Amino acid sequence: MKTVLVTGANKGIGREVSRELAKKGFHVFIGARNRGAGLKAAEEITRQGGKATFLGMDVNDNESVTRAVREFSKLVDHLDVLVNNAGIMMDGDDAILEVSDNIFRRTIETNVLGALRATRAFTPLLGQLTGGADGWSPAYCISKTALNGVTSQLAAALPKFAVNSVCPGWVRTDMGGRNATRSVEEGADTIVWLATDAPQKLTGKFLRDRKEIPW
Ligand SMILES: NC(=O)c1ccc[n+]([C@@H]2O[C@H](COP(=O)([O-])OP(=O)(O)OC[C@H]3O[C@@H](n4cnc5c(N)ncnc54)[C@H](OP(=O)(O)O)[C@@H]3O)[C@@H](O)[C@H]2O)c1
Repeated sequence: MKTVLVTGANKGIGREVSRELAKKGFHVFIGARNRGAGLKAAEEITRQGGKATFLGMDVNDNESVTRAVREFSKLVDHLDVLVNNAGIMMDGDDAILEVSDNIFRRTIETNVLGALRATRAFTPLLGQLTGGADGWSPAYCISKTALNGVTSQLAAALPKFAVNSVCPGWVRTDMGGRNATRSVEEGADTIVWLATDAPQKLTGKFLRDRKEIPW
């Protein structure tokens, strides 16, 4: 059975990607820092006949990520796909010349280092991996630009794997808000496609709607 780990899978795009990959026959590991919400998302998939396991994981915390690798390794021996979906966009991330150091640091910590931490920890178990997206608030936007740099570096360092960044568009989630133009299903589409049907040679790219877009 193919395995996928989705970080930040307890809600929003991550939960939708998890649901869809479970429907396609993956054993889905629901990476979440919130135990209650993570267990609920995993149970929902199990109720619908899919295979899902909650994996407690705060991408900001090396120990938590290491523990997650240990837990994961007790259950299965390989990871086919890693979806680095966990991300934050903080209140107060409004204008480049006003954004606080704290907001900047915390955004980079989660959106850039978090994805790198998860990738570093799970690479030994990996068969293929995919990555994050982009945005508009300054700290957030810069963090996603840096994440694209991480993607590009990882793609070069891991030639046997497919490593890509995804822009899901503006999606109706807690982060995207109610006025966003896309549903979670639309936001999840390119990520699910990369995890399943995309050519393995597609790597080191930034994609939206299953097509390469400029960095
Ligand atoms: N929505 C959009 O319009 C849009 C557009 C472009 C890109 N994206 C990207 O798509 C991804 C998913 O966004 P979304 O709209 O689904 O956002 P969301 O509904 O706010 O969900 C974000 C998820 O990330 C998790 N997360 C945050 N920090 C974490 C940490 N340190 N460790 C583990 N999990 C953490 C959250 O967990 P908690 O519930 O515990 O907070 C939540 O599960 C993000 O990378 C985002 O930047 C979204």
